[in-house]
Amino acid sequence: MRFDVLTLFPEIFAGFTGQSLLAKAIERGLIDVRLHNIRDWTDDKHHTVDDRPFGGGPGMVLKVEPVVECVEEVRRRDDDPGHLVMLTPQGRTLNQAIVEELAGHRRIALLCGRYEGFDERIRVLLEPDEISMGDFILNGGEVAAMAVIESVSRLIPGVLGDEDSSVSDSFSGPERLLEFAQYTRPREYRGLEVPPVLLGGDHQAIARWRKEDSRQRTRCRRDDLLK
Ligand SMILES: C[S@@+](CC[C@H](N)C(=O)[O-])C[C@H]1O[C@@H](n2cnc3c(N)ncnc32)[C@H](O)[C@@H]1O
Repeated sequence: MRFDVLTLFPEIFAGFTGQSLLAKAIERGLIDVRLHNIRDWTDDKHHTVDDRPFGGGPGMVLKVEPVVECVEEVRRRDDDPGHLVMLTPQGRTLNQAIVEELAGHRRIALLCGRYEGFDERIRVLLEPDEISMGDFILNGGEVAAMAVIESVSRLIPGVLGDEDSSVSDSFSGPERLLEFAQYTRPREYRGLEVPPVLLGGDHQAIARWRKEDSRQRTRCRRDDLLK
């Protein structure tokens, strides 16, 4: 799976791609993350990527020319132009079903906004898949792009140590419920004991307990998932 990130701040990704499971997946060639600085697609002396909004108001707006030309050229560089995602609070809210859909692509280009956001003509010309992290405002699309990269990468075969672990995760599997409670050693801490069924080695009983715990937790915390 290849990700092309189009951003004004590529440096933000250094720690993210250099650590943990993602770094290993990159090293093993399972994931390829390429960073492109939108500023490289400017041709004026000051490398201007933003300007004041027509009609007035606070802040600056990302200019149409560098963004459109950056996206077009990056996508043209490969036989597969890839699926273009624009990170925006005005898109469809990311969830595990959308993550699964995105994981079906071979290449994803992630367009990160900044300032007051994108000149509207960028959206009209590029017709991206607009994705939001939720009903709140970030400073830029970079953290959102990282969330997409990390959640999609988990579904790429070989990235997780144990393939089964993503199937039992919350919002995953056929039922899309919350995951059951997990415990590790010690068996008792400050009077709180691990449920005895998990210690008995009866795998059918453990599976039954987990299924019931998963349903009950979902009922209490996220009733909406049962509908
Ligand atoms: C400060 S925000 C601009 C918000 C814009 N003025 C609005 O009200 O819709 C700057 C950039 O951060 C990113 N961003 C902010 N909140 C986001 C969210 N909830 N999901 C995805 N991207 C977000 C987008 O790329 C956006 O263009």
